[in-house]
Amino acid sequence: MNTSSNSILDDIERLLTTSDPTVVDSLYEQAAAARDKAYGRNVFFRGLIEISNHCKNDCRYCGIRRSNPIQRYRLGPEQIMECCREGYALGFRTFVLQGGEDAWFTDERLCPIVEDIRTTFPDVAITLSLGERGRESFRRLREAGADRYLLRHETADAAHYAFLHPDEMDFDHRMQCLHDLRELGYQVGTGFMVGSPGQTLETLRKDLLFIQQFRPEMVGIGPFIPAQGTPFAEASAGSAELTLRLLAVLRLLLPSVLLPATTALATLLPGGRERALQAGANVVMPNLSPSDSRALYSIYNNKLATGSEAGEAVADLRRRLKIIGYDMPSSRGDFRNQQPTDKQSLL
Ligand code: 5AD
Repeated sequence: MNTSSNSILDDIERLLTTSDPTVVDSLYEQAAAARDKAYGRNVFFRGLIEISNHCKNDCRYCGIRRSNPIQRYRLGPEQIMECCREGYALGFRTFVLQGGEDAWFTDERLCPIVEDIRTTFPDVAITLSLGERGRESFRRLREAGADRYLLRHETADAAHYAFLHPDEMDFDHRMQCLHDLRELGYQVGTGFMVGSPGQTLETLRKDLLFIQQFRPEMVGIGPFIPAQGTPFAEASAGSAELTLRLLAVLRLLLPSVLLPATTALATLLPGGRERALQAGANVVMPNLSPSDSRALYSIYNNKLATGSEAGEAVADLRRRLKIIGYDMPSSRGDFRNQQPTDKQSLL
């Protein structure tokens, strides 16, 4: 198999649909080797803090969409800091503040929280994953100390985007946000769901092309999982196998990308996290949210937040991954656009 970027995209249909196990095994092996060359056998761990399940949007796939009558919560500044303190003691050096598009979290409320984390824990990376905001808001948050921003593009096909989202959401605005974040000096993460309703090989090809051209520092992909109370509640889930193949393809397209083994994949496939690492992933994101809010952040059905997905179990996870040959260094795990040499430590 030829793994230069162009030939991967030329060959994408075969790579994603073949039933020849030698082709698939070779894809995973080459992706794992590319990951090892860029980052060694290191798996970086990020603490996910779900700060609010209030959302002004009505995305058709998402369990916390505005019109779904679920119980809502948001964490206050002190609760968020408490999650960080706990996470820091457990060795986490990246905190990801994730939430719906909650109008309560104005810049006036959010910036002091980010500043507080920044000054209390100067050696952590602060990642935000709070949906679309204006450029000025992104600028203020960056100035307050945020380093990274996750905003999945969801699909690079405008018609598919319109099918997944309510009329008031706009594909061009999403793309604008991603470009603004990049210009403001964030490390930027994007991504998409695998098997979302309306997705085709053609829309997937566009996703991969977009990612190849935009060159994000991080890419998050996981299978679509139907969520109760949404228009897609009865749709079928995406394929875990296709997700694994796409992880491997992404690793080969962007060898130094930070690529999480997502909770959605672990939810759908037993052993999914380990399988993702073997297909080239190098990040895990255990949950540091307070236990009573974990169940409420139900963007899809049966979302895991316990066992190895729980922040407090990170020592267990480290032991488990050690057995299959991975280290979990307690470091920020920043994007590195270069290969480590023998003398260069990743810590
Ligand atoms: N299944 C899988 N992933 C989902 N997301 C939202 N709803 C679902 C679902 N039903 C993903 C979206 C979003 C991220 C936070 O979670 O891609 O960007």
